[in-house]
Amino acid sequence: MAASFRLAVAVTCALVLVTASQGLQVGYYKKSCPRVEHIVRDEVKKFVYKNAGIGAGLIRMLFHDCFVQGCDGSVLLDPTPANPQPEKLSPPNFPSLRGFEVIDAAKDAVEKACPGTVSCADIVAFAARDAAYFLSRFYVKIDMPAGRLDGRVSNASEALDFLPPPVFNITDLVGSFAAKGLDTEDMVVLSGAHTIGRSHCSSFVPDRLAAPSDINASFANLLRRRCPANPTPGNDPTVNQDFVTPNALDNQYYKNVLAHKVLFTSDAALLTTPATAKMVLDNANIPGWWEGKFKKAFVKMSQIEVKTGMQGEVRKNCRVVN
Ligand code: HEM
Ligand SMILES: *[C@@H]1O[C@H](CO)[C@@H](O)[C@H](O)[C@H]1NC(C)=O
Ligand SMILES: *[C@@H]1O[C@H](CO)[C@@H](O)[C@H](O)[C@H]1NC(C)=O
Ligand SMILES: *[C@@H]1O[C@H](CO)[C@@H](O)[C@H](O)[C@H]1NC(C)=O
Repeated sequence: MAASFRLAVAVTCALVLVTASQGLQVGYYKKSCPRVEHIVRDEVKKFVYKNAGIGAGLIRMLFHDCFVQGCDGSVLLDPTPANPQPEKLSPPNFPSLRGFEVIDAAKDAVEKACPGTVSCADIVAFAARDAAYFLSRFYVKIDMPAGRLDGRVSNASEALDFLPPPVFNITDLVGSFAAKGLDTEDMVVLSGAHTIGRSHCSSFVPDRLAAPSDINASFANLLRRRCPANPTPGNDPTVNQDFVTPNALDNQYYKNVLAHKVLFTSDAALLTTPATAKMVLDNANIPGWWEGKFKKAFVKMSQIEVKTGMQGEVRKNCRVVN
């Protein structure tokens, strides 16, 4: 009797540890705003079915939010006279980061149902999760823990400090993810998000087309036809990241890495150590392997340096602090 009771207690504790990691909880708004996850999903669905690229933007938005000041909605804050250079105006985010209008629409709908209850940081996490669900044709299904608070600090220079640029080699990539508590495999697995969305020519032309690189020659020629030799802010077209299945969140990215048909040095870098090359091979070749790893790494990323208690607030408008 005592033994089975102890076992039951141990099992319960283990479950609590799994679901309540970092103080975040799956179903956090169950009592306070029971329909929030439906409301956000419906908004995301509307936008993503009109333009799959917006879904890519939302997935990237979570990454860019979480790596700078933690997952706290700091990437959403607009410039003000007191803070003219917030994260969203920093080069890694401006003008490329997209999907802000989805967060605004979701927040409006959520505020109507449950005023002052749901943080913008949680809406970003829910929306990114939902985008992954729709773009994977309902295959990448994630239970997203919630309970993040919104931050009050947003500084463009911190986005430059913490978001890895596309010219990074493997050492620097591993270091940049380690600084946020993510390991090498998390980095490899999360890079798989480059199976959707687009890139501006300026993000890869100087480093990969103008300089010698290991990029496949016919792929390089295709990119040269779409991109100016010297992209400028006034002449900076975009190309798909994944030319095979551009709007599908699938493991095609890893096949592209193996074929040397990826845009960035940071993508190609995954083949430059035996350990990461093995991960690329497994993700490319074992059906379902990457998707399973991606779900876990995505939730882990969504819990970076989250704010609770006195560290944050629930913003009324995602673009301004209360
Ligand atoms: C490993 C380091 C990473 C680097 C160096 C990197 C860099 C970049 C760059 C330069 C772009 C193109 C921006 C543009 O010119 O428009 C991009 C796009 C994108 N990135 Fe990453 N990224 C990394 C990791 C990630 C992670 C962890 C995620 C999410 C899990 C992600 C999701 C995306 C998505 C979805 C796009 C397409 C966005 C769109 O179409 O709007 N990236 N990334
Ligand atoms: C942003 O951070 C930089 C570098 O740490 C600092 O010099 C600057 O004063 C900060 N800006 C604001 C508005 O806090
Ligand atoms: C990676 O790049 C850094 C400079 O950013 C350099 O110091 C380092 O030697 C490089 N590492 C490798 C393995 O190429
Ligand atoms: C580059 O891609 C083309 C077209 O898919 C392919 O025919 C060629 O073999 C590739 N080149 C190399 C060196 O793998």
